[in-house]
Amino acid sequence: MWLFTKWIVFVIFILSATVTTMYYYSTEVLKNTRATKFKSLRRISSSKKQLTNPGANTSRFLPNAHGNRTYILFWDHPWSVPTEGFSEGNMGGCTGTYDRSKLPEAGAVVFHYSNLDRESMPWKHYRDPEQIFVFSSHESPSYVIHGEHRHAMTKFDNHFINWTMTYRTDSDVFAPYQESKVMNKIIDEGGKWIDSKLAKKKKVALWVVSNCALLRGSKMRMKYTDALVEAGLPVDRFGGCFNNKDEFKQLSDDDVEAYKFYLAFENAQYCKDYMTEKFWRNSIGAGRVPVVWGPSKEDVEKLAPTGSFIHTDDFKSPADLAKYLLYLDSNDTAYREYFEWVENPDEKTLELAKTYVLTGSHRLCKMMLSNRERKSHPSVSDFFHNEKTNCFSSHEDAIK
Ligand SMILES: *[C@@H]1O[C@H](CO)[C@@H](O)[C@H](O)[C@H]1NC(C)=O
Ligand SMILES: *[C@@H]1O[C@H](CO)[C@@H](O)[C@H](O)[C@H]1NC(C)=O
Ligand SMILES: *[C@@H]1O[C@H](CO)[C@@H](O)[C@H](O)[C@H]1NC(C)=O
Ligand SMILES: *[C@@H]1O[C@H](CO)[C@@H](O)[C@H](O)[C@H]1NC(C)=O
Repeated sequence: MWLFTKWIVFVIFILSATVTTMYYYSTEVLKNTRATKFKSLRRISSSKKQLTNPGANTSRFLPNAHGNRTYILFWDHPWSVPTEGFSEGNMGGCTGTYDRSKLPEAGAVVFHYSNLDRESMPWKHYRDPEQIFVFSSHESPSYVIHGEHRHAMTKFDNHFINWTMTYRTDSDVFAPYQESKVMNKIIDEGGKWIDSKLAKKKKVALWVVSNCALLRGSKMRMKYTDALVEAGLPVDRFGGCFNNKDEFKQLSDDDVEAYKFYLAFENAQYCKDYMTEKFWRNSIGAGRVPVVWGPSKEDVEKLAPTGSFIHTDDFKSPADLAKYLLYLDSNDTAYREYFEWVENPDEKTLELAKTYVLTGSHRLCKMMLSNRERKSHPSVSDFFHNEKTNCFSSHEDAIK
């Protein structure tokens, strides 16, 4: 009897221990699954184990003897607008595509900042440590921080991003607004190009703008332009801000090419290297001298052909600038000096032209195929928003 009781107690002990262990284990596993679901990003970046894909083989992403190319997968168009973003097609040894079925063959996946809050991010089902995740933005931090996607980026801090690709020169991949080869083409044509452009010049200044009050910078540039006009500078103003978008579209090419100056006024002041199509396509490419407001003079000097632009910071007031532009309008010799870089490019200008031959995605391809050093950004929002305060909150009072 005594022995039997002892045996029963022993069995009960073993049984309860087993049940407790099983219960504890199952809840732990459940907890982990849930954590994986909700905090997959944290886990991905903190756990080397999760990152290691047993099938990973770097050479998979490199062009090989079979002629396979490496894909650059653009995860989505900016703001999911199909006409926006990088072009598809071949560049160097890579093929750019928006086709997500190419994910397993993509050496790099590019996320525009507005893509980062989507539900369908690849890290939920697939991440290869050899695959480079790239952050891209062509907007100023000032614009991004006020926009609807302002929280997207911070959700993907914590080493999610390997490389940055923006118009900023301190990005891993420099992706300027300058259209590739344009500067080279202009320099190649030289004096002929200048003559053909200048022959059409009959009007003074053009400004096309559609964002008037979204950012403090947009209000500041509006105020500056008003002051130029008040000081007697003829500025033809078009775009959403003046309710004459259609009128602008109806102008002939000759009408549009007739302007000597273009107001390359950005929507934010002193954001690092922030020079857009307003400077490149609308001014330099169109043979108009850019009048710059926004990026610092130092940044523009670093990124633009020598002597190719006029910077508002060089003038005490908009009235002084207006006076100078009117003088240039009256003196063809002085005006033509702004095209000196086309005929006699200095070393810096030639160096820039060489740099601009590669588009951002072409440069990304080149780096991807040569630079296999591991890197990730602890915080991509810190990188992008690491700006002088002026970039976010300039003072309107600064303009008298
Ligand atoms: C990677 O792939 C290449 C060819 O596809 C193969 O020669 C090489 O052995 C592989 N390396 C590893 C570590 O599996
Ligand atoms: C590379 O090319 C070979 C031969 O055409 C093909 O069998 C293979 O599936 C390709 N690999 C990838 C990753 O596309
Ligand atoms: C016109 O510009 C040229 C070159 O800068 C200068 O030498 C000349 O004196 C100017 N003429 C007048 C009338 O200001
Ligand atoms: C990319 O970033 C991930 C996550 O931080 C990291 O594990 C991986 O090694 C990085 N890959 C490269 C090629 O830098």
